[in-house]
Amino acid sequence: MTDLDLMQAAQDARKFSYSPYSNFCVGAALLTKSGKLYTGCNIENAGYSATNCAERTAVFKAVSEGETAFEAIAIVGGRAGETAPFCAPCGVCRQVLAEFCPKTFRILLGSPKSFRAYTLEELLPFAFSSEDL
Ligand code: THU
Repeated sequence: MTDLDLMQAAQDARKFSYSPYSNFCVGAALLTKSGKLYTGCNIENAGYSATNCAERTAVFKAVSEGETAFEAIAIVGGRAGETAPFCAPCGVCRQVLAEFCPKTFRILLGSPKSFRAYTLEELLPFAFSSEDL
């Protein structure tokens, strides 16, 4: 699977975003080391704090099925209907990714038309991890 394929999968997952409160639609596509693909969207709630981000939906789907080794994640997000969406992962999602992924884990941001790869370490320097406990 190419980076572009992964971005396209994130864009497709974005269509399922349940975001009636923010109208900010996010899709994520997580590629495992074993080559499996897990997608996710943001799922909002009238009790706002119960909202789940797209990235965590994808990670939790994968981990709940026994997959904990990941290659890369693509994230496509922006206001509903926006043609050039961009969404960087929130702090909580970065921390969840850091639980399972190495510093070199790749995070693709933008849209299928224009995207850039970052490492987890670039987006979450000085991460708090199990090694700190
Ligand atoms: N959101 C995500 O799904 N991922 C992020 O990393 C940033 C924010 C969602 C949560 C909420 O449904 C909406 O975007 C606005 O914050």
